[in-house]
Order: sequence, then structure tokens, then C-alpha cells
Amino acid sequence: MPYDCVLRNALIVDGSGAPARHGELAILGDRIAAVADSIDGPAESEIDVRGLVVSPGFIDVHTHDDRAVIDTPEMPAKISQGVTSVVVGNCGISLSPITPDGDPPPPMNLLGEQAMFRYPRFADYVAAVGAARPAVNVAALIGHSTLRVGVMDDVGLPATESEIAAMGDLLTESLDAGAIGFSTGLFYPPNEAAGIDEVAALASRLVGTGGIYATHMRNEHDGVLDSLEETFETARRADVPVVISHHKCAGPDNWGRSTETLAAIEAARAGQPVGLDAYPYAAGSTVLIPRFMDPRIRIQVSWSKPHPEMAGRDLADIAAEWGCALEDAARRLDPAGAIYFQMDEADVRRILAYPHTMIGSDGLPHDVHPHPRLWGTFPRVIGHYGRDEGLFGLEEAVRRMTGLPAETFRLAGRGVLAEGNFADITIFDPETIADRATFEKPTLQAAGIAMVFVNGSLSHHIGGGAMGRSGRLLRRA
Ligand code: ZN
Ligand code: CU
Repeated sequence: MPYDCVLRNALIVDGSGAPARHGELAILGDRIAAVADSIDGPAESEIDVRGLVVSPGFIDVHTHDDRAVIDTPEMPAKISQGVTSVVVGNCGISLSPITPDGDPPPPMNLLGEQAMFRYPRFADYVAAVGAARPAVNVAALIGHSTLRVGVMDDVGLPATESEIAAMGDLLTESLDAGAIGFSTGLFYPPNEAAGIDEVAALASRLVGTGGIYATHMRNEHDGVLDSLEETFETARRADVPVVISHHKCAGPDNWGRSTETLAAIEAARAGQPVGLDAYPYAAGSTVLIPRFMDPRIRIQVSWSKPHPEMAGRDLADIAAEWGCALEDAARRLDPAGAIYFQMDEADVRRILAYPHTMIGSDGLPHDVHPHPRLWGTFPRVIGHYGRDEGLFGLEEAVRRMTGLPAETFRLAGRGVLAEGNFADITIFDPETIADRATFEKPTLQAAGIAMVFVNGSLSHHIGGGAMGRSGRLLRRA
């Protein structure tokens, strides 16, 4: 048999942004053996996919799936959306290289308690991913907060020369072992004392490696333009490409300012490589931050260690029930996570419609009542925002989650359907693809994803539950 599998009568959307075309696709081993108008010759299996789109598997460029790919290797939240690769280690938080002395500080606890951090070297993490054999491919960033908590005595201070050197050596060792870049979460306490000098010194370790710098910026609220400038300057000084994570204009005072921020990004792109990602919702989610309460917006609790029964409830209702202020309620719930309804729908649309915006879920897989982006992001972009709201065509929606991220993160042989590339393939119904997860019922599986192949293996089938697991650790091109 010349092929393992041939997909017949497909509508091929190849991930490059090229127009959809009718054709057929053949898989042999872990690769795409042919993409053509028609393919002759027998195959082990032939699948008639009439009426369905065949596209590259989706790449979730912004995740916190570091531990999920090991603990829940079936990865149902992602494979059921058509995601075949995840980038972990975002927002300055990575599961390695660290074995903390106690429970790690927020927001590192989004990945779990002390016992979950058991990979002192990135090579240990690579081995664990290999042993778990998750359903999706994994590309890993190394987080600045992780390095700081692991190396520094007091993360409330800027790092000294010798601390920067120690963190840099851990980063270099991780890059040598297969990490694809470095991330910061300058907004968060363990990372915020780091200025441009410290971040640029670490990011410069990426020079010559093909690695990328991704940042959850210091300020996405009133100071968002200053933070963009800080981001551009840091990347220029380090001489590395940068990705702005989950770009947004947060807080009612900043609603509408995406016209300014996108203009700043567009201007910077003329002189240096700048990318960005976004998720398709007007609410964000992270740890519950008591100093960060804004009575003008809805805040929904996603988990609480002392009060697990409050997951899913609104903070305002809890405060009313307890007869206390929002901030006091937040303190009583802490450590906890929350969903903040802090964005303007018009900004969300403007940022998603910007041609250089990639799609990243920022899903939080360990939350008790997670933000629905964990289960719904990719079908929502194609179905709700593309097909129903007309923000972009099908080909463009797919490009933002396949070809563009593969190129930006240098994931070789992924992101575009072409002969010789890896057979990461998602097959979906363009008429019915839709997110079903909501803020009330956040773990409902998306509709319209018919089949998903990862490295040539059928890994998800509608109604078929968990199937083969053939994800790999992805290294830099
Ligand atoms: Zn973030
Ligand atoms: Cu994140």
C-alpha cells in the first residue's frame, strides 16, 4: 500500500491563507505524502470527507498546559477543538526548571502546588513529556518567574549580576535541551521587580538559537502603551523576536484604546519582529488578586483553596452573602482564581481582526470552574467570529491558528498542509463548527470537529472519545 490513509473529496484549507480548494490528501507514517486534486492508488484506509474542511491541526500558542500534558495526556479540552500542538510556559510561568522549597507564589500556583514542580532541569521535563506521550505536541517556553523563584532569595528585588548569570545559564541549558524560548509575566509579583536590563540580558540568551521571547506585559490597563514601548525596547536591546501575549486593553477606562495599541504595534513592526496573540472573549482569567478589585466589572471565582464551594460564583454575590467588601471577600478566598469581565467587545474584535494576531487560548486546565476559552477558543474563532460575525474568512481564521504560529514560533514542518510536512490535520464541518462552553457551563465540548490526526495517527473522532496519543516535544527549527 503506498499510503496509510487517503482523505477523499476534501475542501482543503492549507493554513497559508490561500483560497480553499477541492482535493485529496494522503498520509504515510507521520507525514503528509501528497496533497493534490486527486490521488491514485490504494490505501490502508480511505475516508470520504465530503462537505468537510481539511486543515492543518491548530496550534495553541498561549497555554498553561505544562502539567496537563503529563497528568491528563488525553488532553480532551484541546484535541476536541482540533488543537494538535500547544505552546506551554507562557506568562513567565513554566513547570521547569525548578523544585521550589514550598508552595510556589501566585501565579505559579496556576500550575499546581509544590509537589507538582518536580523537574529540576528542563531535560527532566522533556523526559516526562516523552513518557506521558500526550495526545498533542508540546513546545515549551521557559518562564522568568520560574527562574527567579528558583534562583533568587528575594524576588521582590531586581536580580543581581550573579543572579542574572545563574538564571541565564539555566535558560541556555533549557534551550539546549529543546525549549523554544523565554517568557515573562512582568505584571505579576514574582516578576515585576525585573526591569528592562534584567529581561533584556536574559532574552539575549536566545540570540543565535532561533528562540522567541513572549511577554505578558507589565501593564494591560492604563499603562498599556508604555508597556508596549517597554516590550519593543527590551526585544530591540536583546535583538530577539517578541510576541505580545493575550493582547488586550483592560479595565473600563481603557476600553476603545486598541486603535492606539494596534497602531503602536504596526509602527514597531516596521523596525523589528513583533507578533501577538489573543483569545476570542471579552473576559480574562488568572489568579484572584485582592489589590486588583474593580467594582465596575463582573468577577467570577474560578477556584478557591479555602472555599472550593465558591467556584463558579460571582465575587459580588459572595461579598454580599458574607456582608463584606469585595477586597475582603477576595482575601478570604485567597489562594484563588478568577475570571475578570474587563474588556470591551469592540476591542476584542478589532484585535482579532488585525492580520498579525495569532490565536492562543490562555486556558487554565487546573481551574475548578475554568474560563470557557479552555474548551472553546478555536471553534469560536472560526464559527462565531469568522462565519457568523464575518470578522474574517475561513482561510484567514485558519491561517491565524496554523501557518502564522508555525512560522512565528519556528515549528518546522507544521502549520501548512504540504507534501513532506507532519500529518497534523484537523477535519471539521464549516457549517456547524462552534464553541459550546460558556461561563456557566465551561467544559462543554465544541461542536463540528470531525477528526483530528496528530503525527499521522487518528487522535480524535467525533463521538469517539480519547484515541491514540502521538504528540511529541517540538524543538526549534
Ligand atoms: Zn498572561
Ligand atoms: Cu497566560
